[in-house]
Amino acid sequence: MERRLITAALPYINNIPHLGHIVGSHLPADIFARYCRLKGYDVLFVGGSDENGTPSELAAESLGIEIEVFLDKMYQEHKRIYEWFCISYDNFSRTSREIHHKTTQEFFKKVYENGFITRGKLKTFYCEKDKRFLPDRYVEGTCPKCGYEHANADQCEKCTALLDAEHLLNPRCKICGGTPVIKESEHLFLRLDKLSDRLEKWLKQNKHWRPQVTNLALGWIREGLKPRCITRDLKHGVRVPIEGFEDKVFYVWFDAPIGYISSTKEKSKDWEKYWKDKKTKIYHFLGKDNIPFHTIFWPAMLMANGEFNLPYQVVGLQYLNYEGGKFSKSQKRGVFCEKLPESGIDADVMRAYLTFLIPEIADTEFKWSDFQARINSDIIGNYGNFVNRVLSFIYCKLGNNIERPKESELTRSDKEFIRVIKEKVERIGDLLESIQLRNAFREILALATAGNKYFNENEPWHLIKKDIKRANNVLYLCANLCRTLSIVSEPYLPNTAQKIWKQLNLEGSVNEPGIWDSAAEIALPETHSVNKPSILFHKLTDARIEELKKTVSDAKELKSYFE
Ligand code: 2FM
Ligand code: ZN
Repeated sequence: MERRLITAALPYINNIPHLGHIVGSHLPADIFARYCRLKGYDVLFVGGSDENGTPSELAAESLGIEIEVFLDKMYQEHKRIYEWFCISYDNFSRTSREIHHKTTQEFFKKVYENGFITRGKLKTFYCEKDKRFLPDRYVEGTCPKCGYEHANADQCEKCTALLDAEHLLNPRCKICGGTPVIKESEHLFLRLDKLSDRLEKWLKQNKHWRPQVTNLALGWIREGLKPRCITRDLKHGVRVPIEGFEDKVFYVWFDAPIGYISSTKEKSKDWEKYWKDKKTKIYHFLGKDNIPFHTIFWPAMLMANGEFNLPYQVVGLQYLNYEGGKFSKSQKRGVFCEKLPESGIDADVMRAYLTFLIPEIADTEFKWSDFQARINSDIIGNYGNFVNRVLSFIYCKLGNNIERPKESELTRSDKEFIRVIKEKVERIGDLLESIQLRNAFREILALATAGNKYFNENEPWHLIKKDIKRANNVLYLCANLCRTLSIVSEPYLPNTAQKIWKQLNLEGSVNEPGIWDSAAEIALPETHSVNKPSILFHKLTDARIEELKKTVSDAKELKSYFE
């Protein structure tokens, strides 16, 4: 049996997530994980919160709150939001946990013993006024590569380049706004230079990757890899288990990806099969700014350690914008997730629209008018309507009884309908396998379109008056397509899929491992009746959109969580 470990980037919890975070890793990873479970693969979907390093320290400091108190609250809040979205993590851990600290230290020791760590001097920023070192996010400045003015000292979020602090232009201390000075102190470095050839060979071997991800990575290799510093002068983080480094912690990007391992370990006694059995495939889902870490830094760490599998697939997603600009909490521009549960919106409706926006190739944009149009036409008018009209027809017009037609009774149009379903289900499976999640969803909706077309062409409302047997046959095949739709849409619309399953009066649940392979079959019982159908979605009126917009764009102040 195929085994797959699926991960979504561990979010920093210095803030509450907005839709960009959901669509940029958690949702696509979840869709893929759900699909893999339906295929019957041995699947583990892990994640957790990325709690170490400067993002958390800075946030807690600026609120004047104990870091542990801050992190506990934020972790709960993140978890609540992912649960609302039905992100089916098998484990959502925390990098502040003991198991993670231990796993990181052991991981490091192996890398150290294998000769991939070197000591050296690092030039970092120091604030004379605050009397402290200012690594990474404590300093903001202009990116030497693209000119973006709010780059962090370790990475520019805009062009995704990894930076060395000393090259940041016009640096400013984020605590006091002053200009920090450069100071040298002793640190540990990972020998990326020593691994460059191996990385290049491995990257070129991964022919199944998206070219834009591979090309980005190869570009960094061409620029030349230098040893990269993996320690920091900070209080908060994983301690470095080496004499003379007691006051330092690991760089957050050293410990964070090891979080994938510790989250697996925490969940399963059998964790090693996910990381060490060569047959397991590891899939990482992450946003664009995380691509260098997952295509260079993390694989290099894994190569240096030598005990674990390398990623099989790195799905790097682009950004989501909002109505022609960026999400902005202060300007109340965006959809802020903490408000979604109370807004009364259906999580599947949000998942459906976000699926249209998964930034697989380029940045995409959330637009309320588009949201309303797509949900009302594609999801409600096409998909929801097909299921509802079929079940209602059976329930009200056929005495709630359908029977499987004999092979000899099938018309050419029935056979063509059955063929189209088989072909589309196969295509949906192929697209999901290659993680083309938006295209697969489009094909699912096209399946509903094919159902509506078949229904319309056969005019069952006329058939019941003149040829009841024929009406039965048409509706049986339509109901069978409802079963197909329930299965293939489960990764995207898990609640709705389950509702359809129940309304269809089928046994068990749509989540049965392995059920995918029966999706295209004529699998309804020989004779069957359905449960009383009810509509799956409510139309989005203009008034409802206005109301939603107001509720979800008004983000809560971070400090209000602690009052
Ligand atoms: O960009 C971020 O939110 C990072 N915390 C992602 C870390 S991914 C992984 F390596 F854990
Ligand atoms: Zn830049």
